[in-house]
Amino acid sequence: QEQNRELRGRLEQLKKERNAIILAHYYQRDEIQEVADFRGDSFLLAQKAAETDAEVIVFCGVHFMGESAKILAPNKTVLIPDERAGCPMADMVNVDGLRRLKAQHPNAKVVTYINSSAEIKAETDICCTSANAVRVIESLDAEEIIWVPDKNLGHYVQEKTGKKLIIWEGYCNTHDMLTVKDVIEMKAKYPEAEFVVHPECRPEVVAMGDYVGSTTSIIDYCRKSDRRQFIVGTEDGTGYQLRMDSPDKEFHFATKFLVCPNMKVNNLKKLVKCLETMKPQIYVPPAVADKARTSLERMLQVR
Ligand code: 13P
Ligand code: SF4
Repeated sequence: QEQNRELRGRLEQLKKERNAIILAHYYQRDEIQEVADFRGDSFLLAQKAAETDAEVIVFCGVHFMGESAKILAPNKTVLIPDERAGCPMADMVNVDGLRRLKAQHPNAKVVTYINSSAEIKAETDICCTSANAVRVIESLDAEEIIWVPDKNLGHYVQEKTGKKLIIWEGYCNTHDMLTVKDVIEMKAKYPEAEFVVHPECRPEVVAMGDYVGSTTSIIDYCRKSDRRQFIVGTEDGTGYQLRMDSPDKEFHFATKFLVCPNMKVNNLKKLVKCLETMKPQIYVPPAVADKARTSLERMLQVR
């Protein structure tokens, strides 16, 4: 506690010295979310990175999020507390594989989930997040659409839009772990609860949801709902904002395995250290960033 207080004091000082903003994903540890200037899901954080006046962006999330911030704000310094915070789903698609698929479908548009590398975004027509995936697909006038890399979100979007997608076989190791059996057990234990679920979960689990949405929309839904109890089908860090918004409601995570180890690699100590040393910085080769930027900017324009 004492050490955290000291770290928070040092952080405030460094933020001013460096003219820095701290962005934190809802899956970060509480000790990081507590000190963030802005908390959000992937979409809101990308938007914030694109808009900020700060000179330094400290991105508390996983590597692809820092890369997206750097692509959208190329003149800013983007720091990440620990560069080993990766996303296994983002690593499930590589450039050669995607190029081969594009060659098989030369007229297809490529829609890429933001959980992907800068190199993949550079091969993409338009990006999306879980918050705007349906709208992004609906905005396209294309005979064929290649969808990378999340098969679960792809199935959800396909169902919502009625458009057939060519779906890559990637998935989130954390959300994909949640099973129908887990949800049945939780519903039996908490029969009054609503089940809110992220579309990165398996289709059969998503189908059980009383509400399906991105992390921010799940938080908004629970705040506005009249219900007092929720079974939550997304990453455990979301509990920080859920409890803050609705201290009188009960949130039960659907299993104890809904924890993304990559997101938890960052901590308060590393956050302070990265601002002190200005390392590790996110670097994206300018030629890649220039190509990738178009796909992210197109996404930000979809309403
Ligand atoms: P959102 O931030 O869009 O809810 O996505 C969840 C996620 O897994 C981010 O890595
Ligand atoms: Fe990647 Fe899943 Fe972790 Fe998000 S929660 S960073 S998609 S592994």
